Amino acid sequence: MNQPDLRVTIGDLVFKNPVLTASGTFGYAKEFAPFVNLHHLGGVVVKGISLAPRRGNPPPRIVETAGGMLNAIGLENVGLDRFISEKMDYLRGIGTRVIVNILGDSLEEYQTLAQRLSEVEGISGLEVNISCPNVKKGGVAFGTDPAMAEAVTRAVCAHTTLPVIVKLSPNVTDITQIARGVEAGGAQAVSLINTLLGMAIDVKSRRPKLANIVGGLSGPAIKPIALRMVWQVAQAVKIPVIGIGGITTTEDALEFLLAGATAIEVGTANFINPRASQEIVEGLGRYVTENKLSGISEVIGGLIVG
Ligand SMILES: Cc1cc2nc3c(=O)[nH]c(=O)nc-3n(C[C@H](O)[C@H](O)[C@H](O)COP(=O)(O)O)c2cc1C
Repeated sequence: MNQPDLRVTIGDLVFKNPVLTASGTFGYAKEFAPFVNLHHLGGVVVKGISLAPRRGNPPPRIVETAGGMLNAIGLENVGLDRFISEKMDYLRGIGTRVIVNILGDSLEEYQTLAQRLSEVEGISGLEVNISCPNVKKGGVAFGTDPAMAEAVTRAVCAHTTLPVIVKLSPNVTDITQIARGVEAGGAQAVSLINTLLGMAIDVKSRRPKLANIVGGLSGPAIKPIALRMVWQVAQAVKIPVIGIGGITTTEDALEFLLAGATAIEVGTANFINPRASQEIVEGLGRYVTENKLSGISEVIGGLIVG
């Protein structure tokens, strides 16, 4: 029997299938090698990298919630130099696309990251996390203002030869405006959503459950919101959309593809079932075969309304 065709194209990149793993939930891929045949995945998005290493927030920094979790890791990471010297050798050999997620406090930091990573072999693209506060603009997150989102996208695109995917924050009034800004700035694609701001309280101690008080909500609890935003953004921009938010099963992934996503990223589900991403690849293959489709790309944007 012929293998189902799961290939999808984002900008200049062809992915063997639309299943990627979300930044911060899959480490630097090696951590998941005992569970997943990494080369079966469409790609991995590695933990967000900043110029200097970051220690992150003090514990407790993870709390379970109904249908999801709150995290306030605070973007802990090894920093650019150690990422290149300690992680890239392994990542070059995993047999799938490696997307590097980057974060910064200023335009200059994003530019430097983009430039330095362009010189590193084995990276397929950059995913730009614009949820971080711009220290120079008084801490307003880059991703909450269309003009700032456009400016950071433009700065990154001007300093890299790699395809640029900009990752949108859902903590905004109208995500389509941010997506349009990012498209105008030259991004090859957008990915969404990052976590939603939330909090949890311990009623015995009357204290917040997270040391940081607030954190990012992820997991199945956010899926309907993510799906709605992906659907809205897919209609608002011409560049491809990558869907993220609570994707745990093949059916979840199919919902995002039908809503207009060209690919998806699996996040919190990796903590619950470390094989989730591979199982979704297998499930999409079965779906294509059982429905006698020419390929998974037939599903993209296939939502029927009215
Ligand atoms: C523990 C944890 C760490 C994360 N770290 C990052 C990060 O470094 N950069 C980033 O862009 N998103 C990060 N995210 C957000 C996820 O990539 C994803 O956008 C979000 O969790 C929603 O997807 P999910 O519901 O499938 O987890 C993190 C999420 C979690 C749960």
